[in-house]
Amino acid sequence: MPQQVQAVIAPGKNEPVRVETIVIPDPGPGEAVVKIQACGVCHTDLHYKQGGINDEFPFLLGHEAAGVVESVGEGVTDVAPGDFVILNWRAVCGQCRACLRGRPWYCFDTHNAQQKMTLLDGTELSPALGIGAFAEKTLVASGQCTKVDPEVAPEVAGLLGCGVMAGIGAAINTGQVGRGDSVAVIGCGGVGDAAIAGSRLAGAAKIIAVDIDDRKLETARTMGATHTVNSRTSDPVEAIRALTDGNGADVVIEAVGRPETYEQAFYARDLAGTVVLVGVPTPDMKLELPLLDVFGRGGSLKSSWYGDCLPSRDFPMLVDLHQQGRLDLAAFVTETIGLGDVEQAFTKMHDGNVLRSVVVF
Ligand code: APR
Ligand code: ZN
Ligand code: ZN
Repeated sequence: MPQQVQAVIAPGKNEPVRVETIVIPDPGPGEAVVKIQACGVCHTDLHYKQGGINDEFPFLLGHEAAGVVESVGEGVTDVAPGDFVILNWRAVCGQCRACLRGRPWYCFDTHNAQQKMTLLDGTELSPALGIGAFAEKTLVASGQCTKVDPEVAPEVAGLLGCGVMAGIGAAINTGQVGRGDSVAVIGCGGVGDAAIAGSRLAGAAKIIAVDIDDRKLETARTMGATHTVNSRTSDPVEAIRALTDGNGADVVIEAVGRPETYEQAFYARDLAGTVVLVGVPTPDMKLELPLLDVFGRGGSLKSSWYGDCLPSRDFPMLVDLHQQGRLDLAAFVTETIGLGDVEQAFTKMHDGNVLRSVVVF
């Protein structure tokens, strides 16, 4: 039986979001209905609402979520009703060239639910990033569900579904930060702080946090930064070099998504170091670098997609590390809010004191 639940929808470009009753079909083949327990508010939700990504309004928002599987469709064997799961927005196919080459995070045939959730009048809703979890329940592909330890707090678990995974993964998967490495993280919002936490987890000896806001740098210290640099008041490239015996950092993670911070990352790395771009640039942004500098410096320039994560491998591992007290994911939850507070959470996003607002049910 199709069910009616409350959900946040973005009705049109730049219009305030609102709570509406939506209809969720029974899960079809390969699909699951998940009762949502918590869903974080991510920048990408705001970007979808503002328009320009793809403009298939009305949207369902929310993609950083954890909950309990309620029912599954035909052929679903990977999860069962009652399982506590974290949702991911890229259920990889396992068969394309990227998957077969062992790089499923580049899969170009990801699967989300085929059926559509609708408004009461039948208007189809496109779930941003294929999830739609600012809702009491949602419909996803079963491959978007990863079972984790059900003892973990849902508001903590959900964060691994997007921003925190992107940051930790940028350090441990893309940057391959190793024991004793020096790491610099430029931009210490939720993603940068997660990269700092990931670097600490990986055993980095020096973790240099760079931001233009002193409050962000204070938080970065609590996440594991050993040194901080305010790039408004000092040159970050020189500061990072000075802190690494003149060499530059082994891994520099750019978590802003701007040409000037990418350029800083490029010059702040050790000659054989790695630059990881995890901040998302806009289409108009361009970067000009002397080709001789690209040639003259070895190492590698990488971008990190969703932290190059493999949900089935990384979500349960990070939940376990949190449960063991070795990774403090709760530190990313600034506040828990209700379904009706999402619009307000968007306005608070750029307030320096909010890492994550999380909707709880
Ligand atoms: N130099 C250093 N830090 C900067 C600069 C700059 N020029 N400009 C902004 N920042 C800092 C901000 O002060 C803030 O602390 O970058 C941080 C950005 O944090 P958030 O806005 O909270 O964004 P976050 O959620 O962490 O995402 C960062 O990663 O996934 C992407 O789309 C996301 O591009 C975004 C980036
Ligand atoms: Zn694939
Ligand atoms: Zn997100």
